[in-house]
Amino acid sequence: MTTKEQAQQILNEILVPGAGRSLAELNLVRNIKITDNKVDITLASAALNPDTQNWIETKVSDATKQLPALSQADITFVEAKPSEVNEVRSVIAVMSGKGGVGKSLVTALLGIALARKGKKVGILDADITGPSIPKMFGLSNQRPSGSDTGILPVLSKMGISIMSINLVLPHEDDAVIWRGPLIGKAIQQFWEEVLWGKLDCLIVDLPPGTADAPLTVMQSLSVSGVVIVLSPQELAVMVVRKAVKMAQQMNVPILGVVENMSYFILPDSGKKLELFGRSRGAEMAEMAGAPLLAQIPIDPRLAELCDAGEIEKYSSEAFDSLAKNFTKAMAPKAKKKS
Ligand SMILES: Nc1ncnc2c1ncn2[C@@H]1O[C@H](COP(=O)(O)OP(=O)(O)OP(=O)(O)O)[C@@H](O)[C@H]1O
Ligand SMILES: [Mg+2]
Repeated sequence: MTTKEQAQQILNEILVPGAGRSLAELNLVRNIKITDNKVDITLASAALNPDTQNWIETKVSDATKQLPALSQADITFVEAKPSEVNEVRSVIAVMSGKGGVGKSLVTALLGIALARKGKKVGILDADITGPSIPKMFGLSNQRPSGSDTGILPVLSKMGISIMSINLVLPHEDDAVIWRGPLIGKAIQQFWEEVLWGKLDCLIVDLPPGTADAPLTVMQSLSVSGVVIVLSPQELAVMVVRKAVKMAQQMNVPILGVVENMSYFILPDSGKKLELFGRSRGAEMAEMAGAPLLAQIPIDPRLAELCDAGEIEKYSSEAFDSLAKNFTKAMAPKAKKKS
């Protein structure tokens, strides 16, 4: 291993305080130059306050000086906005026709599915008036850190980067009663001013509905694919039609359809009950020209885990099917980009 690689290794390992991810993962390393026994390292200062910068400088300098061939280290910070540093391979938006069908839940499960496969994942909660992502992950009491130049997302227990209006409001229960333009602005800031760093995938929990709000989000975030969440009691045909139209307008593919609250298994007899009516998942997926990623049953354990902020512990057959089919639906895009 050459000394440059060793220096890189150090930057791969030093975790940024408040972010829980390394300098390299946050894509803050701009340059490493070695001349004789001296190393010059240039780092981007995006979202790092002066205290954090000082801490990093000392840490990197001490660590690099330990390398056998190096005795001097110069660490320079250059100004950069998060949007100049962020490198997000794909942005997936999760859409539903109406509220309460489990859109946030599916957003969380899709993120968990990718994270369990070792992918670097972020979740952007764009549902400004009904943010519920932090609660599911047990992060409601956390507050993101940052500086004048940007905000660091909060990290979940398994390492998913999360940003939500909920995390920046003084109290978790504060209601957001902003109107459209302000909401749009907040979402855009979550995209441009949050230091996401290097991510394989950013999953966006869209505002409910198929009207203007989700469309604005999709336009400002360069979405690469959409997942539609339905429940059997919805006016599913209308939702799918609108979603297809929107996706076509935006020239974005629909990656799949998820039917939530599809059925309920009676604990004693194991009998399958279609509580909200006949399942139409397969039919709707066909209409959307996309695969049916999963049919998620009403599962009391799932509701419990959501309430307890422990959704990351969930596993079930339906989850496995969602994870497998979603990974498959993402695969061709990933190949094309690399
Ligand atoms: N399959 C399920 N089994 C059990 N509980 C569920 C299931 N799906 C959703 N829930 C529960 O229903 C509630 C609503 O789910 P969620 O917040 O994901 O819906 P949403 O579509 O995002 O709603 P909103 O429009 O309010 O944002 C949650 O509290 C969740 O715990
Ligand atoms: Mg929600």
